[in-house]
Amino acid sequence: MKSFLDAYKTYESVPTRQDITDLDAHFRRRDALYRTLGLVPNHLEGKRILEFGPGSGENSIYLASLRPSTYTLVDGTESSIQSLEKIRQKYYSDLSVELIHSDFLEFQSTAKYDAVFCEGAIPTQAFPEPMLRHIASFVKPGGILVITTVDAVSFLSEAIRRFLARLHVGQPSLDLSHVPRLVAFFQKDLDSLKGMSRKREDWVIDQIIHPWNGPPFSMADAIATLGSGFSAHGTSPRFFSDWRWYKSIHQEDDGFSTGLLASYHSEVHNFLDWRFSLPAADMDSNNILLALSLQVYDLEFAMESGKMPLGSMPLVSLLKKIWDECTQLHDDTRLSLAKAIQVISSKAPVEECDLLGWWGRGQQYLSFVRDSKIIFGNRQTPNLRGDDAI
Ligand SMILES: C[S@@+](CC[C@H](N)C(=O)[O-])C[C@H]1O[C@@H](n2cnc3c(N)ncnc32)[C@H](O)[C@@H]1O
Repeated sequence: MKSFLDAYKTYESVPTRQDITDLDAHFRRRDALYRTLGLVPNHLEGKRILEFGPGSGENSIYLASLRPSTYTLVDGTESSIQSLEKIRQKYYSDLSVELIHSDFLEFQSTAKYDAVFCEGAIPTQAFPEPMLRHIASFVKPGGILVITTVDAVSFLSEAIRRFLARLHVGQPSLDLSHVPRLVAFFQKDLDSLKGMSRKREDWVIDQIIHPWNGPPFSMADAIATLGSGFSAHGTSPRFFSDWRWYKSIHQEDDGFSTGLLASYHSEVHNFLDWRFSLPAADMDSNNILLALSLQVYDLEFAMESGKMPLGSMPLVSLLKKIWDECTQLHDDTRLSLAKAIQVISSKAPVEECDLLGWWGRGQQYLSFVRDSKIIFGNRQTPNLRGDDAI
């Protein structure tokens, strides 16, 4: 079974469509994202861009508006390619564009690109590491890579929602016939999510029904997978501060990835609830939170894939542990967690999902700069340590 692709071809359209009636607002959101990641959008003008998994393509309108010299888009779902072609004709028919219908792993090119994007397509793949290495291999030395990550902490509220949806419907596997019922089931929760631009039906298909094929894939996983050939650059949300004097950064390893990794471990509790940004916590408590959240993810994954029966008690026991042991969390998050525990352990049918406005920080964005050797101020012979790793 091919992660994403087998499920996506059964959907009528790619479930990533966004409301772009206010195109200016859409562009401002994308502009903010790029700048948060350390990219100056106009600097992409005249550059060679490669994007993996553009989906329905609303985000490609913004990238195309930056006037790259070439824009190559690779997606393995027929309906994505059809939607992209419509969008291309409407918004950027004058640009040099290649639309390639291919599995990421089968895409080959001798060209290297100034910027490579892959949004919403690596986490929960069955084998995310080789996929990321393949994607990253197309970045030219000194070029930029933008990916998304998800971890079990940022997805804890989603894991609970996935469980509640299955409890509501009464079976572990869901399909498209459940969409209207689940949109209604999540109405209260979705009403509390201000700023959502995706269609609710698509959110239900992509986040609740769409099967996970593998693990979440965290910032720490991405940094470990890319190794020394790529240096972490920016994140969205932004949480990493670096007080080093730039003159002290002259070693071959610039230390940006190591610094980000340390910040990640002391800040990961802030991925649990998007409403709050708490002071850094000690790494031991955050490691407990990470480990328990991962157990929740694994348990939900096992129940959905039929390896374990759909049952409330193991989940309740893990959530109680989080409630007991993770005192670094905000009181309102703990209240939402208590509500989830109470609803899941109650024998009464669940008619409406209401986690009291609790949403995790879902997916995060992470940018990297590919290593390049600097000799007398000129970027010369690429340092191919990244290729060795890849
Ligand atoms: C969740 S969508 C993300 C769409 C868009 N980037 C966004 O963030 O809204 C993932 C996209 O990646 C594509 N995809 C996932 N795995 C793939 C693979 N192995 N080969 C080709 N395309 C893949 C899917 O077809 C889908 O269009």
